[in-house]
Amino acid sequence: MTKIGTDIHLARQLLMEGQLVAVPTETVYGLAGNALDTRVVSEIFRVKDRPSFDPLIVHTDSLVRVKDLTGDIPVVLARLADRFMPGPLTLLLPKTEKIPDLVTSGSPKVAIRIPDHPLTLTLLGQLDFPLAAPSANPFGYISPTSAQHVFDQLNGKIPYILDGGQCSIGLESTIVDYDQGQVVILRKGGIAIEEIEKVAGKVKVMESSTSRPSAPGMLDQHYAPAITLTLDPLAEVLTRVNPAKIGLLVFNKIRSELSPSQQLVLSPDSSLQEAAQNFFSFLRRLDKMDLDIIVAETVPEVGLGQAINDKLKRAARKTNS
Ligand code: TXA
Ligand code: MG
Repeated sequence: MTKIGTDIHLARQLLMEGQLVAVPTETVYGLAGNALDTRVVSEIFRVKDRPSFDPLIVHTDSLVRVKDLTGDIPVVLARLADRFMPGPLTLLLPKTEKIPDLVTSGSPKVAIRIPDHPLTLTLLGQLDFPLAAPSANPFGYISPTSAQHVFDQLNGKIPYILDGGQCSIGLESTIVDYDQGQVVILRKGGIAIEEIEKVAGKVKVMESSTSRPSAPGMLDQHYAPAITLTLDPLAEVLTRVNPAKIGLLVFNKIRSELSPSQQLVLSPDSSLQEAAQNFFSFLRRLDKMDLDIIVAETVPEVGLGQAINDKLKRAARKTNS
């Protein structure tokens, strides 16, 4: 049985023993373990059921420690670090030998971030090693934004979930690489591209990927609920599916064609921040309902809306037949 609580000392003790602990961040919950211990890192891959070619993000609590774990930082990425760390930003930086190859799946670059959550920052400050942590969901499923979400899927597999409440951002970090003199967004996430561009100038955005993505968060099918999700118009879906078996994820208002009990509204105030916060937990709620299909509306394609729409498109590409 997995325990849930707010005991940082217990979390620290378990991590120092080489065990895994789920930790809160402002983006999503992470499945954390000692990033410098390959035995622990393999255990993360095992518990998450994640292929070893899909590398892990390393979490630490200060820029000084980021510099200790990485080689030369390109000037423009250093500017992003100064502006957005701690925060929902992950930078790909040349790794030093301290980081095991297993963490980066053999890549010479490590993905590194400083999560902006008081409990986890305090915990990291009390550890003398960084934490490798993927999102604390089974590979391919929806990311967890509460301790209960983690418990629902990892109960019995890890000893402890550090409960930091609901994640304030609700989308994973924005992943930024620097390649051939250019800033490249590998994954749209909790910092809008417009915000990155205010600091870094024009960036290149990787839209999709094929067989060997540099960030497998970019795999075509990802973040998917178990029930089929479609972006087809509701009117069209109503011609082929029993209305009682359709769930609807809408941006700001209920639709008249279906019962309100089958609909979840991401943000009645049309706030993309609120929509982001609710996004993963609403997908989970719909996934638990007795439905044949989830019909989702895209949201305005600006700010965090770009990341939400990106995740919706990937979820819709999954076929469950
Ligand atoms: O907000 C987040 O980033 C959350 C919290 C827990 O920090 N973490 C997270 O981790 O979303 P994960 O493992 O679910 O997604 C990390 C993504 C994966 O798509 C992985 O392929 C990519 O980052 N990644 C990690 N290390 C990389 C590397 N060295 N090179 C390229 N991509 C990397
Ligand atoms: Mg993930």
